[in-house]
Amino acid sequence: MLVLGIESTCDETGVSIVEDGKRILSNVVASSADVHQQYGGVFPELACRRHMDALLPVLDEALRKAHVKPSQINLIAVAQGPGLIGALLIGMNAAKGLAISWNKPLIGVNHIEAHLYAALMGDKEPLFPALGIVLSGGHTLLLKIFDIGKYEAIATTVDDAIGEAFDKVATLLSLPYPGGPEIERIAKEGDPDKFSFKAGFVKKSPLDFSFSGLKTSVRYALRGQNDSQEPLSLTDEMRADVAASFQETALGDVVAKAKKAVLEFPCRSIVLGGGVCNNERLKELFEKEFPHTPIFWPDKGLTIDNAAMIAGLGYHKFLRKKESDPLDLEVLTRIPIA
Ligand code: KG4
Ligand code: ZN
Repeated sequence: MLVLGIESTCDETGVSIVEDGKRILSNVVASSADVHQQYGGVFPELACRRHMDALLPVLDEALRKAHVKPSQINLIAVAQGPGLIGALLIGMNAAKGLAISWNKPLIGVNHIEAHLYAALMGDKEPLFPALGIVLSGGHTLLLKIFDIGKYEAIATTVDDAIGEAFDKVATLLSLPYPGGPEIERIAKEGDPDKFSFKAGFVKKSPLDFSFSGLKTSVRYALRGQNDSQEPLSLTDEMRADVAASFQETALGDVVAKAKKAVLEFPCRSIVLGGGVCNNERLKELFEKEFPHTPIFWPDKGLTIDNAAMIAGLGYHKFLRKKESDPLDLEVLTRIPIA
């Protein structure tokens, strides 16, 4: 079955064609990250304008690269949410337009669930039950995965998402958006033990995450306790040390909570998804702490927002549901995965 996927939840416009949930024939992504750089985060209105401009060229390119004609497509899958309302509407309306004009069924999928599915698109057979870990710009989640589509929440963040914390700390260090890759780059030269930062502890639910205090500690370390608003004059060495200490604390917190989670939830594997999974130090820490547990990582092009994960998951959702979603399917800015 050939599925055409559409992704437009945030600042990436993606169209992809995937066969039977796994074989990626094309996966085209246009990012508007360049226009958001000066704001240190995504500017929703500008993201929408770029989706409008990018969607049709990206669609054409995805069909051309896959050598597929519209008549050969069997299903249109679209990210229904969570995400920015305007951005979601552009992808959803394009998907509905294609479903109507090409006379194809339509299926809406959860973007967060798709981030986890991305790790299962490789050749290895999934091993359930699995501990699912979503680490993205908008979400930080631990969950139990019993099967594709069957989840139970374990923990979430009570404030910033981990990717958001990377982006905000990058802004404090005058690094461009998106900050995650920049922090990782300069952290390589830094001393992770130079600053003793701490990730937040949520007393009532100790597996939950909290990164906003960590971000504030970084700000104090940079500006001193009086939080001076004067422009910072930092040496490269200090920036690298702050980046390395922050990164080690944030990623170490995820690994420590994953370790606690598997004590309560014996699982056969760990499945990770989301943009922060690009981080090589995260991989090192997980491989070191879980030497005997199979770990599923998304391939490089499938960590950040993309439409292949949407098409792949759409295939499974359609097989389960056996019918099209209605053409008045609504976008949802928040959808719990479990
Ligand atoms: O999954 P994603 O593309 O978007 C959301 O659904 O949110 O994740 C984007 C996030 C950004 O916050 C970005 O800074 C972070 O992933 N990120 C990284 C790295 N690459 C991207 N964080 C840490 N290290 C990286 N190498
Ligand atoms: Zn995402």
